[in-house]
Amino acid sequence: MKDILEELEARRQTARQGGGQRRVDAQHARGKLTARERVELLLDEGSFEEFDTFVAHRCTDFGMEKDRPAGDGVVTGWGTINGRMVYVFSQDFTVFGGSLSETHAQKICKVMDMAVRNGAPIIGINDSGGARIQEGVASLAGYAEVFQRNIMASGVVPQISLIMGPCAGGAVYSPAMTDFIFMVKDTSYMFVTGPDVVKTVTNEMVTAEELGGASTHTKKSSVADGAFENDVEALFETRRLFDFLPLNNRDRAPTRPFFDDVARIEGSLDTLIPDNPNQPYDMKELIRKIADEGDFYELQKDFAGNIVTGFVRLEGQTVGVVANQPLVLAGCLDIDSSRKAARFVRFCDAFEIPILTFVDVPGFLPGTSQEYGGVIKHGAKLLFAYGEATVPKVTVITRKAYGGAYDVMASKHLRGDFNYAWPTAEIAVMGAKGATEILYRSELGDNDKIALRTKDYEDRFANPFVAAEKGFIDEVIMPHSTRKRVARAFASLRGKRLSNPWKKHDNIPL
Ligand code: HXC
Repeated sequence: MKDILEELEARRQTARQGGGQRRVDAQHARGKLTARERVELLLDEGSFEEFDTFVAHRCTDFGMEKDRPAGDGVVTGWGTINGRMVYVFSQDFTVFGGSLSETHAQKICKVMDMAVRNGAPIIGINDSGGARIQEGVASLAGYAEVFQRNIMASGVVPQISLIMGPCAGGAVYSPAMTDFIFMVKDTSYMFVTGPDVVKTVTNEMVTAEELGGASTHTKKSSVADGAFENDVEALFETRRLFDFLPLNNRDRAPTRPFFDDVARIEGSLDTLIPDNPNQPYDMKELIRKIADEGDFYELQKDFAGNIVTGFVRLEGQTVGVVANQPLVLAGCLDIDSSRKAARFVRFCDAFEIPILTFVDVPGFLPGTSQEYGGVIKHGAKLLFAYGEATVPKVTVITRKAYGGAYDVMASKHLRGDFNYAWPTAEIAVMGAKGATEILYRSELGDNDKIALRTKDYEDRFANPFVAAEKGFIDEVIMPHSTRKRVARAFASLRGKRLSNPWKKHDNIPL
């Protein structure tokens, strides 16, 4: 018996060594952790339960039968993050470059199936040379099996991808279909075709980092939701994100203990809005001031800064925040911000996370690049996402809510539950100057007359009361009491029941 136990321990020991010390050292020399070290840091200490430690590939081409390392280049299993269950897979670059074989894919599929069946999120750590070249189509089939599971798991359990090394070719499409992607600066990249192919086909000279590094994907393409300095930071931030999320679509996000007064008055918010309506202010200040302990977990912060998305907690409960940001493009909606916010709203709705919207939007960004780029269709994504969302929706208009953008930003008409406005709100078809120039075109040469007309328009429409008279605004609230009002609104909505008519699925303008 003792011998058998010793043999198991010896086999485990060999499996844990992955591709051997030389390759582990090379991994460390690049500033990367190994697959197992990453899992250890991601999960609560001692909570990891590994599956399929001894799975080996079945390839017999290219002499592969002589090299069958235990685990086949991916570590899989489950554990906990702050006591809550999660399934993980972590590709081991030290074994065949973390490349995906038929059996490697089967290991990933097994934990994905368990995650869906048992209602727990799945976190994938990607560090791989792609399809196992020696296995050919068997490897491609493996990828497709993973893709199919990503699709089926979407909206059922949260899926998070960490990119911690290469992720190229069709392999990028698994992370692309998950809910959140985090990357590590300088050591990770994602692209469909690498720099060499790009050079051959388009003659462009570009490095892997420029083509698909963390900075590219968080600033330009918006493929990734966050970029971090190193593996440790990325893993730590993943734990923080995880804490905001429910385990599955039938569960509620966890309620965390909070040490903040729900009725906290924030006097400084009474002077947040500058006297000059064209002067910007930082919407994130408002978000932090209403959040429990000022904690705001921002996503996609380096992309489409004209809209801000992320999570806060109110009374310990997760709330998704979408807010126009006057500091960037005056807070206009455009293609990028609409796409960014629409995806976030849909995530929140899929996982029953209430949505808080702060509005200060002068309208949609004009211009040929926007029109040619399809701002109509992209703007419609956000409109559609808000309109179909059945979670509790609370909206606060701080300043401008002009034109179609007023409708889009979780207005009453899109089944907003509580629509508040600050006294500084201006809810109108457009700004006073633009409106006057259209209505009184014949008087345009006469500056005094136009000034009077503009003032008249401002007095009449640049306020929240016309909308409040019609009941489109439920109440005009004091800025300093925003936290209390919003928290009470969400508290009153905990029993909300609303469903959409039966359909196979909708046809959101993609
Ligand atoms: C088998 C692979 C491999 C692969 C790397 N290795 N990629 N083995 N299949 N796809 C092995 C190497 O032979 C090497 O083994 C070890 O992993 C480390 O690789 P290196 O090249 O030494 O590392 P590095 O210099 O860091 O370069 C990493 C790399 C490069 C950029 C990922 O290895 C590379 O370009 N690999 C091929 C990538 C590729 O073309 N993959 C197929 C893409 S198509 P030893 O024994 O020396 O340690 C694809 C389609 C998916 O993925 C489609 C889904 C639909």
